[in-house]
Amino acid sequence: MSTYAVPPRVSEGTSSPVSSMEGWRAAWMAARNDPDGFWLPETRERIAWDQPPTVGLAGDFHDIADERISWFADGQLNVTRSCLDRHLETRGDKVAILWEGDEPGDVRRITYRELHAEVCRAASALRELGVQKGERVIIYMGMVPEAAIAMLACARLGAVHSVVFGGFSAEALKDRIRDCAAEVVITQDEGMRGGKTIPLKATCDEAVIGERSVRKVLVYRRTGVHVAWDAERDVWWHDVVPTQSADLDAVSCGAEDPLFVLYTSGSTGRPKGLVHSCGGYITWASYTHEIVFDLREDDVYACVADVGWITGHTYIVYGPLANGATTLMFESTPLYPDSGRYWDVVQRHGVTIFYTAPTAIRALAACGDEHVTRYDRSSLRVLGTVGEPINPDAWVWYFDVVGEKRCTVVDTWWQTETGGICITPIAPATPTKPGSASLPNPAIVPVLLDDQSRVIVGPGEGRLCLAQPWPGIARTVWGDHARYVSTYFSTFPGYYFTGDGCRRDADGYHWITGRVDDVLNVSGHRMGTAEFEAVLMSIDAIGEAGVVGYPHDLKGQGVYAYVVLQSDAGEVTDQELEAIIRAACRTQIGAHARVDLVQVVPGLPKTRSGKVMRRILRKVAEGPPDQLGDVSTLADPSVVEAIVAGAKR
Ligand code: PRX
Repeated sequence: MSTYAVPPRVSEGTSSPVSSMEGWRAAWMAARNDPDGFWLPETRERIAWDQPPTVGLAGDFHDIADERISWFADGQLNVTRSCLDRHLETRGDKVAILWEGDEPGDVRRITYRELHAEVCRAASALRELGVQKGERVIIYMGMVPEAAIAMLACARLGAVHSVVFGGFSAEALKDRIRDCAAEVVITQDEGMRGGKTIPLKATCDEAVIGERSVRKVLVYRRTGVHVAWDAERDVWWHDVVPTQSADLDAVSCGAEDPLFVLYTSGSTGRPKGLVHSCGGYITWASYTHEIVFDLREDDVYACVADVGWITGHTYIVYGPLANGATTLMFESTPLYPDSGRYWDVVQRHGVTIFYTAPTAIRALAACGDEHVTRYDRSSLRVLGTVGEPINPDAWVWYFDVVGEKRCTVVDTWWQTETGGICITPIAPATPTKPGSASLPNPAIVPVLLDDQSRVIVGPGEGRLCLAQPWPGIARTVWGDHARYVSTYFSTFPGYYFTGDGCRRDADGYHWITGRVDDVLNVSGHRMGTAEFEAVLMSIDAIGEAGVVGYPHDLKGQGVYAYVVLQSDAGEVTDQELEAIIRAACRTQIGAHARVDLVQVVPGLPKTRSGKVMRRILRKVAEGPPDQLGDVSTLADPSVVEAIVAGAKR
């Protein structure tokens, strides 16, 4: 496979400390061999500490059940001083948040000075509502600047925010409110997306019923629609925020105090609340954002993710603001009002760095090049992708058509748990290969393990693990450290197990092959098969259910459900069943949780001891299986024949 060595533009303007392959190699070796020696000076220089740390890393992946990982533990800081206060002198009038609303051209520009003032006001209002250091605040909003302001306002007080993606249902929101015992929920009357409204306040009303921890609901007015109102509990943002003082001292926090909790799906059970710390996270967010994208002072940086996911946390809010960048927030979709929207945004705002997901790239490539080429993209310099493996065709289209063969494509691999980008090209330095996330960032030591937990040396394919702690790693699962340890550190003791498969080629480049556990990745949305199965099992007519992923040209993965009907289920057509299942997934998880294919089966393939052989379900869902492997342990082989005969693909 050829490499795409984009002429490095390291000359003027780059502030990146890693702008060549030699620079990357030296930094990587230094961070691996002497983590404290590398990261202590880095964070002291990069971050506005109230009290700079004198200790670096403590703990390792072997003893993680007893001693948590910590970085910079004796340091004191408030991350908003790095993101706001320290920019006031030199960047006060620079645009911090450049907001592009749902309707093209509906734009807000918020300077660092204005953002600082607004965060102080929002933090004062939250304080008046009783929010204190360490308390949890759920943020259930769309892509309005106030979502970022709310996050930063929590951080200003040392309160712990938990952003819940605005597409989640009332039940999913309720689960998260309950799990972290949130005291306040911040929402808005309605969200806007693709010309449609999203009833955020109404959903929030349903979610907070009976949740005694929630004292107040703070509501930002976006559309002005009439919403139900509980005068005891609900408070309008515009009634309590604008009257506050524009200056509020930031609460000094310990480096290891939690900054936020973000829920994500795993192989089993309910979503886990990953806890990110203040000091390590902000260091990692700032460092990776600067080096990977080769950030320049005059960049217009656009990450078109949602703040409800980790990408939005690290690469819309914390990383760019810590680096004093202009960060674009995008409320709409790539297809509204038509499939040229991204490039219209690029042209109008002169975007220089653009960061999106493979699923959007594939969808746009299918719409035809003319939707891209009619816009001026000459401002673009770096193109990023994240969230799922990018197929080489989509990569080449992004490089050739969007980037006019001039821009560097950075395929960035990372996870909610890793806090920031781990394996990626570094824009000015790394020769790229279409479809490969390439090489690890400094502090990331990837190891491939085989089924027998043996380390694979040189080229090969195995389970992707990371061998050393980096500053941005999530420290625990909210309220359940044992679950954190068993999920990530028990499969391969001594290593952090990512859940992904990976191939390494002869050049040491990494090619992520996708999840090897029971986590699905549909259009970049991470969902657990167990969560779908729990929804299906809540439907009266269904006795048993098995859910797996299958390859999908546009979405990366589709969702395939095998269901066994209850004997007394009565007559139900396939269409009725699909409608019932889709409605249940929408209500219990959210609109993004859609089952694509449903197959009614006489039984699930089980071993004699009653364990479902998911391997067979996967194989059939992947397409006509040439062989199913060893089925001799099956309790009832006739079930498999019926499954194969009725397969939907
Ligand atoms: O399977 C990997 C995939 O997304 C998973 C993490 O999902 P989430 O925690 O929601 O975070 C997504 C945004 C960081 C990973 O385990 N993934 C993410 N980026 C890539 C990827 N797979 C392949 N290539 C990537 N660049």
